[in-house]
Amino acid sequence: MLALQQRPAAPAALRHRSPAAAPFRASRRAPRPARRAAPQPPAAFFQTLFKRPSQGDSGSGGLAEKPLYKPSEMVNMGPFKVSPMGFGTWSWGNKLLWGYDEQRDPELQDVFNLVVRSGINLFDTADSYGTGKLNGRSEQLLGQFLSEYPGSSATRDSVRIATKLAAYPWRLTPKQWVGACRETLKRMGQDRIALAQLHWSTANYAPLQERLMWDGLVAIYEEGLVDAVGLSNYGPRQLAKIGQYLDKRGVPLAAVQVQYSLLSRGPEQAAVKAACDDLGVALISYSPLALGMLTGKYSMDDPSSLPGGPRGFLFKQVLPGLQPLLQVMGEIAARRRKTMSQVAINWCMCQGTVPIPGAKDLAQAKENLGALGWRLSDGEVRALNEAADRVPRGMQQNVFQTR
Ligand SMILES: NC(=O)c1ccc[n+]([C@@H]2O[C@H](COP(=O)([O-])OP(=O)(O)OC[C@H]3O[C@@H](n4cnc5c(N)ncnc54)[C@H](OP(=O)(O)O)[C@@H]3O)[C@@H](O)[C@H]2O)c1
Repeated sequence: MLALQQRPAAPAALRHRSPAAAPFRASRRAPRPARRAAPQPPAAFFQTLFKRPSQGDSGSGGLAEKPLYKPSEMVNMGPFKVSPMGFGTWSWGNKLLWGYDEQRDPELQDVFNLVVRSGINLFDTADSYGTGKLNGRSEQLLGQFLSEYPGSSATRDSVRIATKLAAYPWRLTPKQWVGACRETLKRMGQDRIALAQLHWSTANYAPLQERLMWDGLVAIYEEGLVDAVGLSNYGPRQLAKIGQYLDKRGVPLAAVQVQYSLLSRGPEQAAVKAACDDLGVALISYSPLALGMLTGKYSMDDPSSLPGGPRGFLFKQVLPGLQPLLQVMGEIAARRRKTMSQVAINWCMCQGTVPIPGAKDLAQAKENLGALGWRLSDGEVRALNEAADRVPRGMQQNVFQTR
């Protein structure tokens, strides 16, 4: 049995302080090929994922598959349903920011197997994840782990992979976008994946490319390479425009992801959430742990514990004003017998978003899974919001985030 919700040693922050889319001509290409309906799993999915342990594991390779949430908690994401929390894989292959080490790939595979058998079926990646010659590593590992998943085929088939295609300046024509998506599929060893998301909008600096990208996304869908499309780092105004455009082109927009956490909340995020609700698309909250700061393990009391590079630089700006929020998070965590990471992730779910925390090892993944199966009360959410309002400096917005 996993001890997912055990409370580990008090986080550093508590140990050191006292309590308290222009018109578009119809495509001249051949009509879209007959599409395989996006597998709609509820019956088979729930039977497999939600069987009781006493029902044995036949058909699941001996692996106990037990979702840590109720079926009713699944979230509609375009043509499919996803777990209330997903999993982010930015760190897989990224040495620069995340200190990725190939030697630890077997542990990452264990992490993948653990979270899938715990009911997580949404994985976020990107074709730009992985630094230097490791570019694309995250997609490649994800494809490998999925194909080698030792549990049941029903559970494996329920996994939804959402990649993000980078808005490189040389990606302009629909053919180039389709080519980029085919490269992704090749790295993953898949014919088709759930979602292709535009990694960022170029509206702020190259508006002409922006329109070309929309057509690229349409072309990827029309080629039958994805079940639906998504967006990343789009604000409400740009979202409404592209939402209208995709709708006109008959392309299902399933999700939008933005930075969203207790340190990245406020009118801008609320406006994106409202725009998503208007369009009927899911909001994926990325960096729900504020790159690790909301785990409570980093503290200015121990600067040597801070990560190096750009992350350390950011932490030094944010951490000095974070203590009151960490204090409230710690108190709620202690009362609930949860951890601060679990509280931070749960808060994102309470906002009606689907958080995709990253985890670098099994211990972090186990802990983060403990954010499932319970909900913060309205009062606790209020207390967290009030404490977050008092944080003098939160996360910096992604430079590509549009209005
Ligand atoms: N669309 C975009 O532009 C965009 C941008 C950013 C992220 N994303 C997506 O969102 C995902 C998640 O965001 P993120 O990876 O930036 O940040 P995050 O989820 O806020 O933080 C993840 C990091 O926090 C630490 N951590 C995680 N769980 C922990 C635990 N239980 N205890 C202690 N430390 C823990 C780990 O780093 P350490 O151990 O090094 O502290 C881990 O890599 C990414 O993987 C990616 O898929 C998308």
